Amino acid sequence: MHEAMGGYFEMELRRGHQPFPDALAFNSARSGFQALLRSRDIHRVFMPHFLCSVMPQAARSAGVEVVEYGLNDQLELVILPQLGENDALLYVDYFGLKTHYLRNVLAEHFYAHLIVDNSQALFAAPLDGVPTLYSPRKFVGVPDGGWLVNGPAGIEQPEPGAFVGRFDALLGRLGDAPEAHYADFQKTEQALGLEGISGMSRVTARLLDSIDYDSVKTRRQSNFNRLHDALSSINRFTPAFGEHAGALCYPVLLENAAGASAVREALLKQRVFVPCYWREVLENPETPPLERDMTERLLALPIDQRCGPLQMDRLASIIHQTLRTA
Ligand SMILES: Cc1ncc(COP(=O)(O)O)c(C=O)c1O
Repeated sequence: MHEAMGGYFEMELRRGHQPFPDALAFNSARSGFQALLRSRDIHRVFMPHFLCSVMPQAARSAGVEVVEYGLNDQLELVILPQLGENDALLYVDYFGLKTHYLRNVLAEHFYAHLIVDNSQALFAAPLDGVPTLYSPRKFVGVPDGGWLVNGPAGIEQPEPGAFVGRFDALLGRLGDAPEAHYADFQKTEQALGLEGISGMSRVTARLLDSIDYDSVKTRRQSNFNRLHDALSSINRFTPAFGEHAGALCYPVLLENAAGASAVREALLKQRVFVPCYWREVLENPETPPLERDMTERLLALPIDQRCGPLQMDRLASIIHQTLRTA
């Protein structure tokens, strides 16, 4: 077919800002994971209990056995397992705050067996030669997408997936209150889950190519630091936050589940939406106590690029008022 020229205009977007131009572009991170497992002779994959359920499901669909491992209160492996030739180990750079641990401990120890899940760490660079997954829609407004960086040479780029009917939540939130289009968001997520392995939609690829990632990252960093200044005194999750590159959220681990639940409720009343990582962890009877406890007590506070100092101060003040820690 000849290339189209002239005629009516498409939406006008900048070009050339995609952070991983050499990545394979899937409709979701789980699709990239499944394609990776299918392309390599992997029989078992070690995965954390503390993870969303679509990832072990993707591994099982690829015919790979899942062995779950436990974490300590720093979200690091309790025991580094002995891996066989056909084993792999997937680790999540939690909230984008475990990059040093990944580089200095896990990459050193597991190198060729390691798969990195950077779904929560869009701004963490991939380690040389280590297959790494990204899920950009957790950081910016796109309806689908998953990148696989450092995938084996044998994987083909799949054909682009669907985009028609997938913009209701994104356009709706632009013009309306978020509550009015939450059902549209859920519908799009569900459709994505049912789509199976497919390529990133063409519209998402164009949108992701147009984003100013540096400003997204800088805003997230300053929001994170502001919340940390305001909340570190009550935060029981104390990894060395130090240098971090544009985290997903500010994770605050409260003293007990009742306090966390009260804060979640107070935030919701004031229309501050806090996701739960991950509800399914609580539903799984095999989940160890520490991961269960983390799920109940940890609040993933929003620090995204739509917010600034005023919003961060409001957030911290709701929390202190609810816990009477101000
Ligand atoms: C840590 C983590 N990895 C992977 C995924 C799956 O990403 P996607 O929805 O792009 O398949 C999720 C989904 O919530 C996640 O939280």
